[in-house]
Amino acid sequence: MIDLQLADKTHDEARQGEALIIDAPKALNARKLYIESYGCQMNFADSEIVASILLDQGFETTGDYHEADAIFINTCSIRENAEQRVRNRLSQFGIEKRRNPKLIVGVLGCMAERLKSKFLEEEKLVDMVVGPDAYRDLPQLIEQVGEGQKAINVLLSREETYADISPVRLNGNGITAFISIMRGCDNMCSFCVVPFTRGRERSRDPHSILAEAQDLFDRGYKEVTLLGQNVDSYKWKGEDESSEVMVNFAQLLEKVALISPELRIRFSTSHPKDITDEVLYTIKKYDNICNNIHLPVQSGSSRVLELMNRTYTREWYINRVDAIRRIIPDCAISTDVIAGFCTETEEEHQETLSMMDYVGYDFAFCFSYSERPGTLAARKFEDDIPEDVKKRRLKEILLKQQVTSLQRLQASVGKTVRILVEGFSKKSDKDLCGRNDQNAMIVFPAAENVAPGQYVNVVIERCTSATLLGRIAG
Ligand code: SAH
Ligand code: SF4
Ligand code: F3S
Repeated sequence: MIDLQLADKTHDEARQGEALIIDAPKALNARKLYIESYGCQMNFADSEIVASILLDQGFETTGDYHEADAIFINTCSIRENAEQRVRNRLSQFGIEKRRNPKLIVGVLGCMAERLKSKFLEEEKLVDMVVGPDAYRDLPQLIEQVGEGQKAINVLLSREETYADISPVRLNGNGITAFISIMRGCDNMCSFCVVPFTRGRERSRDPHSILAEAQDLFDRGYKEVTLLGQNVDSYKWKGEDESSEVMVNFAQLLEKVALISPELRIRFSTSHPKDITDEVLYTIKKYDNICNNIHLPVQSGSSRVLELMNRTYTREWYINRVDAIRRIIPDCAISTDVIAGFCTETEEEHQETLSMMDYVGYDFAFCFSYSERPGTLAARKFEDDIPEDVKKRRLKEILLKQQVTSLQRLQASVGKTVRILVEGFSKKSDKDLCGRNDQNAMIVFPAAENVAPGQYVNVVIERCTSATLLGRIAG
């Protein structure tokens, strides 16, 4: 049985509340920073930028907030429950603040951007509110708080990509890392708060992306995940806007893939309206670009998709899935689904289920619709699907995905797959674990000659609901 609670969590949420600890050498008398991140991978990547900026200010990170001089919480606004979780956590930090009035409590990220100065009014213990484009200002803001004032910077930028800041890799395994290739989003999906919290879309200079990937590889990393809200619209125009220096996402992927066949490349998120055959052929051409595409569908109904302002239809989405299957036959496809969007009928919900049957997703992150203040949907449509109906539809979606995920895993049993060893299994230090090209987790008994960071062939013997189990081939 798959745990429905767990299956309902995003990979983002599954990691929520992780404290990030830096592996840099400890300095004497350094101030201590405790940073906790919520939300998507981009937020986790941003926390690594923040740690880097503060390292320059003499802060080292700690995993224990009781000993911190500053507690930062990097927040997410995507659904109401994400915000609620942050507020609960802040009340815990409040206890610490009463004990140690000198402690600086900072709210960063999307909730900071959404609520701005309201945050300082609502949560008295908060000293500092900093939006996602204002992290370079952190040293000044901290100084301001040190002088006894509250501090805020929520300015969004059209240019900021933090391209020159070398992220401090936090809590990493030393083998896989994220690289932000762009920021913001211009899409205005009607349900989504991201364009308001992250601002306009902008792409990062490819030279700095390649330098970061090369540096990671030189330091022993074997996998990078290129991050953006809509990676397919990555576009770098260069200084002089001439076509020679134009770089699109397919070209960027190729450049990163060429660093070394030993460096694996993943990327997220692909938008169904923008994913091109050129990208698919690039994935096909390079063995080290993983056969794994996250292609959020949101709904299987063209009418609902139009209300969502997703700018594609059911037919368009199916056409893109057919192209993936034709060009990269063994590609894993994962998705995001929203249940109970405004005015969604029972038939339209059935269309989402039939879409899931058609695609046979390897994995899906499933949510019930949560109205977000200020979004197009909040302004234009009534959130009219009763909570119990949303819940029931979500449960049907989750159950379907449970069955499909299991079938997809079972199809690997008996096969030999190449995996990148990431470390010891969570449950036992006698087992190693790692992922295959399609992003499935594989657990297998450790062997003396196999270490994290190596590629190894594993024969799949059986599976649980979410994991493949096997043994080293040979
Ligand atoms: N840029 C990505 C999505 C980022 S948000 C894309 O376009 O696909 C991650 C997911 O959260 C979305 O795909 C959507 O399924 C879900 N989501 C976003 N806003 C939501 C809301 N208001 N209610 C419920 N789910 C939401
Ligand atoms: Fe939100 Fe849509 Fe942008 Fe994704 S593409 S971040 S869902 S507005
Ligand atoms: Fe959340 Fe902001 Fe990411 S709203 S999902 S942390 S971009």
